[in-house]
Amino acid sequence: MRTGTMDINAEGHLEIGGCDTIRLAKEYGTPLYILDEEAVVQNSREYLQSLQRLPRSQVVYAGKAFLTLGMCRIVDKLGLGLDVVSGGELYTALQAEFPAERIYFHGNNKSLFELESAIQAGVGRIVVDNRYELELLSQLAIKHHTQVSVLLRVTPGVEAHTHTYIQTGQEDSKFGVGLANDAALAMLKCIKALPNIDLKGVHCHIGSQIFDISCFKIAIDLMFDFIVQAAHHGIVVDELDLGGGLGIRYTEADDPVSITKFGHLLTETVLTACQQRSLTVPKIIIEPGRSLVGEAGTTIYEVGAIKDIPGIRKYASVDGGMGDNPRVALYQAQYHAIVANKPNETADFVYTIAGKCCESGDMLIHDGKLPFLEPGDILAILSTGAYNYSMASNYNLIPRLAVVTVYKGESELLVERESYADLVRLQKIPDRLCKKSVY
Ligand code: LLP
Repeated sequence: MRTGTMDINAEGHLEIGGCDTIRLAKEYGTPLYILDEEAVVQNSREYLQSLQRLPRSQVVYAGKAFLTLGMCRIVDKLGLGLDVVSGGELYTALQAEFPAERIYFHGNNKSLFELESAIQAGVGRIVVDNRYELELLSQLAIKHHTQVSVLLRVTPGVEAHTHTYIQTGQEDSKFGVGLANDAALAMLKCIKALPNIDLKGVHCHIGSQIFDISCFKIAIDLMFDFIVQAAHHGIVVDELDLGGGLGIRYTEADDPVSITKFGHLLTETVLTACQQRSLTVPKIIIEPGRSLVGEAGTTIYEVGAIKDIPGIRKYASVDGGMGDNPRVALYQAQYHAIVANKPNETADFVYTIAGKCCESGDMLIHDGKLPFLEPGDILAILSTGAYNYSMASNYNLIPRLAVVTVYKGESELLVERESYADLVRLQKIPDRLCKKSVY
């Protein structure tokens, strides 16, 4: 069912990557993110294999889902590319010595500094979003006497979300350039006219947590129509980047398409589209984030106060919450939990799992079925690998949690737990406020 190595060991504890999660809780403290490295390896290999029928392809991990120095190393060792969306992500990748030529730099408002850093680092592709950026890029490329290889981000007018998608004639998006009114074609012409910019291809990303993958077919066909249109104007598009978006299983109600099925659909659609249009198959790039790391992550918490409001609800509070997982409050995301110290007990009770922030919306699970809970139980919330740590905050000045990677029975820190000292490390008390009498 789920990818990865989750199991129940002889002690009756939840085990991930051959490591007892109760021991991990003791060793590293809670709350704790646990990355099942084997799951990332399995998912990556599945992606690579599923695209094998394409003459040229590249799987690029979307770092926004979860990025640390160690994660960059994992991605590198698997031979994947890396999609970064900010100077901070780029810096992290370079600090981890990630090969610059496999970095794809995204963003709808990259700063001059970010673009210059990317050029100086020699990143493989810059995904151009708009004309302003293109002009900055061209000036920088000339200044640095270099050629910059770019993809143009196009909004094909297909927008997909979990179960549905819509096709829009006009594309209302802060990202990229629309196909309508030949706006994208005009940008391609503009790119071709610039001296130090080398147009490699086009890019689209139609959404995230997608279950109905037929929308990718529609997007692919639209993109190939665009590639044909470009060819009529003498513009060769050699690379097509289809973005990310495949959905994962958060709760038992989710039924995502497998990576293999998704890869095969992309392959078939691309090969057919090229055959129909008598096109050479371009290099196909995909940028999975969530589907590579989402199910590989688990967060463990210690249960504290339990509040039973008779006839209304049972609340069990844990030692983390919206600071480490803002997705519930932000997107009404749903999660599934297991009690790691008694995973075999039947889920006969209904609890709402509350975080410890001073905010009523700070919940992790609304009315979830769980075994009887007691203070000290270790609760494991599944599928927290994507967009949890990367979106974590210090709200209420709660230190961000530690991240460990588990692999074949061994655990190692990817990120240390923040200390209270870390919380105030960048803060200053102005001199004026150090005087005795101020106001
Ligand atoms: N490529 C581009 C250009 C993207 O914008 C994204 C995600 C991806 C790839 C990766 O998509 P994935 O395979 O992870 O679906 N914070 C939200 C998700 C935002 C996704 C933004 N873009 C959440 O927690 O659900």
